[in-house]
Amino acid sequence: MSGMTTVASLISPTVPVSVTLDRPLKLGVMASGSGSNFEAIAQAIADRQLNAQVQVLLYNNPGAKAAARADRWGIPSVLLNHREFASREALDAAIVATLQQHEVEWVIMAGWMRIVTPVLINAFHRRILNIHPSLLPSFKGNRAVEQALAAGVKITGCTVHLVVPEVDSGDIIIQAAVPVLFGDTLETLHDRIHTQEHRIFPYAIALAAQAQQHSKS
Ligand code: GRF
Repeated sequence: MSGMTTVASLISPTVPVSVTLDRPLKLGVMASGSGSNFEAIAQAIADRQLNAQVQVLLYNNPGAKAAARADRWGIPSVLLNHREFASREALDAAIVATLQQHEVEWVIMAGWMRIVTPVLINAFHRRILNIHPSLLPSFKGNRAVEQALAAGVKITGCTVHLVVPEVDSGDIIIQAAVPVLFGDTLETLHDRIHTQEHRIFPYAIALAAQAQQHSKS
């Protein structure tokens, strides 16, 4: 058998090709670090691939690159430093208040590295999405890319899912498969996963919102 060199990525093949939304979505994005997924969403909106507006970026780490990206896009950002809150619930209550002040309808966890509680989850019932760098239900929790490398899987990927109280466990909206290549490091593999995350996240937001708008009509 000859060697196989194909390294294509595959996005969930059964999702609808075209997504139509009745009206623009009002998004609140939560990010802890770099914010490249946040920026991919902002770019998709600017490119008219996603009918939405980012009302606010919430971030929890002072100096997070995500905040600088928000400034460049002219998107308001709010720091809610988890170190200044007595409990996860107290932080989440402040998050809910801030999202409501900005009239957010859908909450987008784009690299939010904190566990969220029912205080947030119940306030935005089935309207919170998270992106995770593995093909769930494999490799839940922290260090998913490291876990995949350590397990020796040959295909991994990323998942956008609804947020429920159990970590990384809500309904899956869309996934992209990413091959693990010979010699991959944490960085090279995560870079390729990131590329797919940026493709599927804006699409997943539209899909999830469309499903909900249609279920109401
Ligand atoms: C992504 O890989 C995401 O799956 C994980 O955290 C990372 C965030 O990356 N939850 P970025 O901040 O969007 O660049």
